[in-house]
Amino acid sequence: MIGNLDEERISNDRRLQKLLVDPFWGYLWPGSYALHKHVQQHGDSTIKGRNVLDFASGCGLSAITASRLGPVEVLANDIDDFAIAAVEVNSALNGVEPGRIGLTAENLCANGTVVKELFKDPSLPLTILCGDVFYDTDFAAVVMEWLAKQDGAEIYVGDPGRHALPRSGELEEVAEYDLPPLLRDTNNGMTSVKCFRYRSV
Ligand SMILES: C[S@@+](CC[C@H](N)C(=O)[O-])C[C@H]1O[C@@H](n2cnc3c(N)ncnc32)[C@H](O)[C@@H]1O
Repeated sequence: MIGNLDEERISNDRRLQKLLVDPFWGYLWPGSYALHKHVQQHGDSTIKGRNVLDFASGCGLSAITASRLGPVEVLANDIDDFAIAAVEVNSALNGVEPGRIGLTAENLCANGTVVKELFKDPSLPLTILCGDVFYDTDFAAVVMEWLAKQDGAEIYVGDPGRHALPRSGELEEVAEYDLPPLLRDTNNGMTSVKCFRYRSV
């Protein structure tokens, strides 16, 4: 029983499942923690004066951190509209000016979207942040194919070493961060997470 909802009702309703059963946007994943740390330390070269996409943003930490580091435009993208709502709420709770982070639930990689075209000024340099997106082999393949089409973008991946993390040479490790106690406790005792820079091979 969750609140006054019984399990049968939840198991018959996909939207309720998304909302109540293990919502990916309901907590911070290690991948976005790595991106948060990395862009905080290297904001001038990774975020300042650039367009920024937080792909698969979940709760939105990467977008929120990026919004404070002088980007021209920041966009958070997640196909789960509850995640989009979570980014909006978490932005407000963290003092981000309303509208500073643009939001889209479009399936950018399935549509083959060229990310720079999503921004008001597509000629600006672009950074794409991908936190913890390699949790599934099929999705990993889709993401890698799509990233390969983003010519000229600086792309960073945060990942604790999940099974679908590509080992094919595109991801160059640039940093490793210790996880804080809360993330250790909620991630089966993982102790650190890595940040990678994508480059096409
Ligand atoms: C493991 S969570 C990571 C969330 C966040 N980046 C973090 O590190 O805390 C993966 C997220 O990917 C989103 N997702 C799955 N497929 C997606 C797609 N095709 N496009 C955008 N987001 C997607 C899920 O809804 C989920 O919020």
